[in-house]
Amino acid sequence: MKVLLVGAGAREHAIAEQVSKGAKLYSIMPKKHPGIAKLSEEFLIHDPTDASVVAQWAKSRSIEVAFVSPDALLADGVTDTFAEVGIPVASPTKKAARIEWDKGYARSLMQRNEIPGCPALKICSSLEEAKDALKEIGAIVVKPLGLTGGKGVRIQGEHLNSEEEVLAYCAELLEKDGNVLLEEKLEGEEFTLQAFCDGNSLSLMPPVQDHKRAFEGDSGPNTGGMGSYSTGALLPFLEQKDLDAAKSIMEAVLSAMRDEGSPFTGVLYGQFIATKAGIKVIEFNARFGDPEAMNVLSLLKTPLPQLFLSMSKGELVPAEFSPDCTVVKYAVPEGYPEKGKADELIMVNEQKIWDLGAKLYFGSVYQTEKGIFTSTSRTAAAVAHAQKLSEAEKAVEGALSCISGPLWHRKDIGTQELVKRRIAHIRSLRT
Ligand code: AMP
Ligand code: GLY
Repeated sequence: MKVLLVGAGAREHAIAEQVSKGAKLYSIMPKKHPGIAKLSEEFLIHDPTDASVVAQWAKSRSIEVAFVSPDALLADGVTDTFAEVGIPVASPTKKAARIEWDKGYARSLMQRNEIPGCPALKICSSLEEAKDALKEIGAIVVKPLGLTGGKGVRIQGEHLNSEEEVLAYCAELLEKDGNVLLEEKLEGEEFTLQAFCDGNSLSLMPPVQDHKRAFEGDSGPNTGGMGSYSTGALLPFLEQKDLDAAKSIMEAVLSAMRDEGSPFTGVLYGQFIATKAGIKVIEFNARFGDPEAMNVLSLLKTPLPQLFLSMSKGELVPAEFSPDCTVVKYAVPEGYPEKGKADELIMVNEQKIWDLGAKLYFGSVYQTEKGIFTSTSRTAAAVAHAQKLSEAEKAVEGALSCISGPLWHRKDIGTQELVKRRIAHIRSLRT
């Protein structure tokens, strides 16, 4: 079987690895990714949004199913490029990916269809409206409506410390985009639930907790995600009823999208928060999470090519996972997320990482004849799974010590101390 993967980060490196276990991997990437290139039968280094070139390339290789991975390419309609030339696709069309690239659409879809889990919110197109929303909603979160690589959200009391700062950020977004989303600030513990979808039904992956804040103790600016952990079928701070509530919200979204003429085929990503008032939705994405993809894919037992093919046909097969715990931590360049230091040489002792029972996936790097170099974003993710969370965490720390270069990572992710804090936090909210 021939599978095409479009995209080239750490998440795609993990997807490529799973695909190449059960099929011939073909890949399209804007720059040479050292890991994906090595796994590919053949690769094309080209701008994936150049429709005529990539469609022709895929067609001439008789690709049986294509998977477009990154948000920006989904928003650009790269899935549609392949669908239009008759190649089956396991990723969402531009229309369906709107659930991610337009937060206003995602919220109004929920409201129109009375899907539970929406916080109080208002989409504003003037500063006057924003001022009114502040009065109505109370403590708020300011969000751009479009894609920002996870870095556009600012929270009152954390990133915005006075009403003036809130309004100044609203004014900045209004000037840039013409609108801004203001939402009730929710308090609780966040978790990610991802599902394979075929337009009609879904198959869930294990829940994962990501860490969006840059620094230890969940402080600092938002990032694309510094690392994540999972502990089998349930996270330590969740109850089964929380997971059931999140699942039924995702099923309702899938049905609503189908009924409204935008059936969703691909990986649906729900970012949820367990609050005092139950499960609420932070956002939806139209793709695997990065880093969360690496947690779940390291446990996947069902061959990924088989899943992709079944999704593209609307005949989803259920996905099965091993029950281990997983930890992922990203090594990021000095200066990240404000201004990650690019073009720095990194050295990796891959053999030693293997010996530790861990894996390394390259993120925002490029390769020349001189070696592997950083770009401004997250450099490489170390991943491990084990029966105990502490074992996986230790293996990941060991793996990160096998990379040299001007990089840093969050040491607290996946530690017992952090997990205990999560449990105590939920208890304090719910009692
Ligand atoms: P997003 O880009 O929408 O995933 O938001 C990034 C991060 O901002 C989330 O992971 C949350 O930590 C935080 N966030 C977003 N929306 C809210 C909200 N309504 N209440 C509290 N925190 C939020
Ligand atoms: N880890 C968050 C995201 O992929 O958007």
